[in-house]
Amino acid sequence: MKHCTLSLVAALLLGAVSSFAENASPREKLLMDFEWCFAFDEATDPAKDFDPAPVGEMFNYLTKSGNARGAAQAKFDDSSWRKLDLPHDWAVEAPFDERGSGSHGYKAIGKNFPKHSIGWYRKSFSIPASDLGRRISVDFDGVFRDSQVWVNGFYLGRESSGYSSFSYDISDSLNYGGTNVIAVRVGATLEEGWFYEGAGIYRHVWLTKTAPLHVARWGTFVTTDVKKHSAEVTARVTVKNDQPTNAAFEIHQVILDADGKTVATAKHKKLSLAAGESQEFSSVLGVANPKLWSCENPYLHQLITTICQGNTVVDRYETTFGIRTLHWDANEGLFLNGRRVQLKGTCDHQDHAGVGVALPDGVNEFRVEQLKRMGSNAIRTSHNAPTPELLDACDRLGMLVMDENREYGVNPQQLDGLKRLILRDRNHPCVIIWSLGNEEWTIEGADKGTRITQTMQTFAQQLDPTRRITAAISSGWGGGSSKSIDVMGFNYFTHGDADSYHKHFPDKPSVATEDGSTFSTRGIYVQDREHQHLTAYDVNKPDWGLLAEESWPHYAVRSYVAGQFQWTGFDYRGEETPFGWPAISSQFGILDTCGFPKDNFYYYQAWWSDHPVLHLLPHWNWPGKEGREIDVWAYSNCEEVELFLIGVSQGRKKMPKNFHLEWTVKYAPGVLLARGYCGGKDILTERIETTGASTAVQLVPIHATVKADGEDVAVITVSVTDAQGRPVPDAANKIHFELAGPGKILGVGNGDPSSHEPDVFLPTGNSAPDWQRSLFSGLAQIIVQSTKEPGEIKLTAHSDGLTPVTLTIPSQPATPRPAIAGI
Ligand code: GAL
Repeated sequence: MKHCTLSLVAALLLGAVSSFAENASPREKLLMDFEWCFAFDEATDPAKDFDPAPVGEMFNYLTKSGNARGAAQAKFDDSSWRKLDLPHDWAVEAPFDERGSGSHGYKAIGKNFPKHSIGWYRKSFSIPASDLGRRISVDFDGVFRDSQVWVNGFYLGRESSGYSSFSYDISDSLNYGGTNVIAVRVGATLEEGWFYEGAGIYRHVWLTKTAPLHVARWGTFVTTDVKKHSAEVTARVTVKNDQPTNAAFEIHQVILDADGKTVATAKHKKLSLAAGESQEFSSVLGVANPKLWSCENPYLHQLITTICQGNTVVDRYETTFGIRTLHWDANEGLFLNGRRVQLKGTCDHQDHAGVGVALPDGVNEFRVEQLKRMGSNAIRTSHNAPTPELLDACDRLGMLVMDENREYGVNPQQLDGLKRLILRDRNHPCVIIWSLGNEEWTIEGADKGTRITQTMQTFAQQLDPTRRITAAISSGWGGGSSKSIDVMGFNYFTHGDADSYHKHFPDKPSVATEDGSTFSTRGIYVQDREHQHLTAYDVNKPDWGLLAEESWPHYAVRSYVAGQFQWTGFDYRGEETPFGWPAISSQFGILDTCGFPKDNFYYYQAWWSDHPVLHLLPHWNWPGKEGREIDVWAYSNCEEVELFLIGVSQGRKKMPKNFHLEWTVKYAPGVLLARGYCGGKDILTERIETTGASTAVQLVPIHATVKADGEDVAVITVSVTDAQGRPVPDAANKIHFELAGPGKILGVGNGDPSSHEPDVFLPTGNSAPDWQRSLFSGLAQIIVQSTKEPGEIKLTAHSDGLTPVTLTIPSQPATPRPAIAGI
């Protein structure tokens, strides 16, 4: 433990404590992702069962404390198990199988695959003798699903949710100065949602060590009240005394600005807690002329809370927060810092090509960046608690979040899930509203829905009085849940009349929680049912859905609605609408599963972003269609657009707001060019060309370098080019990959909603996996992760008959996050 010297205390009083606050670290938060062992459960095979229960022995690991059996016990031999790092999704590694669940992308897991539906994870780690007396917990960000956890054979508990974060205090069961084993049984036989959910420990795991007197888990709550030239920051902290005697202490609160400069301090003296007691303490700190958090300038502050006993700092807890105001108005929508913000949002599941639901933090960040490029300012985390790192990325990048709860109901487990969501996420400035859940068909139009919604809402408002609450409601508008909900959430205007709802509830704010469900396949411009592909022109929708050009214009003019969330930002596995098997993925995305934009991306970019946009579709490689008519569309926010084919004007047209322009053109290979005009001036040119045959493979990373921290990723676009270096838009070449240097391949994908090629290649025996993937509509993606060793990662891509390419990604020296090593 570090010492609070008297001079530092004096400095604290004077408000110049940043050096002290930055350096002391009596709390340790250690990443526990590395060096786990994994195996599928063998309970269906008596010869291999981890827990064979010999005749005459007890069957029950709950009979005596610390008396686990089979793979749950510390001394179990896991030396033959697979070694892996988290996050891990074993569903993405599984083959496709028609007997799998369609809603989950036909992966060979679930009820029909008992041998691959229960997984065990084990990790050995040491705890130094000097830790005796500290409180130590293991914290899971999320496990899909139904996890049971043991430490050293001591049963810790069961968490059925695949989305809630959970934690166990393991201090009393540890071997201090010795080896410890954590064992986690994960059951993915059953599903929670109707979309791909993955399987396994797919989010981070942490080991947290604190003094017995410490800030409770998720124990701070920072709220801000913005005045003309200052902000009043209320910092609530719950302190827990886990020692068997009374504790006397002080709380010091310091607010740092984004440069680490102290901007406010507060101190609580002469506090005490009885043994086992916990209590919330609140201080109000004034920040002069604060920089506010907004989408354009996501300015973050930090609250550093220290707990001091005498001269000793016993805990130091960091809370990132933003200073901003939020106001929902029944007639004018949402105001952030006093300015109306129209929500231009997408609903998103947490599934990405190559990695399934086990997204490294860098992939979450990449996805948010792609949505921002589109001009989107909001994400709805449909239909579950998100991974905390997604919210961190949204805080940093200025993306607003509708934070959604999974289970709609009021039983103790359901309310506890809602409580954990709110306590965990309520300091994030990006979170602008809580959503209780989605489309509860049985109750949303009924009186029970009115009551259940009211009870959940009252419960949630106690935990966070600063945010409003909504639910995504798809029927019974005017009755049921929509009567008691705080902010009305319209799911699809095909389901009801929002204007008439607004007339009946003139004081209730509202938002289009979900709309769209347009489907399209990236880079495909014909309806190709044989391959389960749909044209990327904005013409396909299910009977409940709306085209992009129907749904955005509808809400854009209704100022009482705060904006809308499109279904969906990204394609996701499962919900393979409108096709069944062999399609394995949804096609609702504005971007595909890799995050490659479909053409609709540019529709939204034109009408959501504030920069000039001009995009043409389709591509211009149509051998054999010479002389035949092809529809050419332009997405643009220019006032007029003129189209030229091989230098010949096809006409100049005025762009109707929130729509597109189209021409019918007789195909001839060459250059298709568009010019965009504003105020009569030619401000933008878009050019697409007929390419030659593929000659070379191309690799383009999103970022030129990675950090050698064992976690950072390079997201790399794979394509092929013709002799003039132009990417070939309809190429389908199979590409093989080899990696050398300090990195590893995590996964590959291409966004094809009916591709059954594997996303992950595991080693077989002693041979290294042969990583490969075909291009789909000219593109594929490969995700490479750094190790903790700096150096040059060299990725080589080759394909039959083409010039190969080697991409060098410098992995630059970096300080990895503190982590707990395996043994
Ligand atoms: C909605 C539902 C989403 C998704 C979508 C597909 O009704 O809320 O989860 O299923 O339909 O169009």
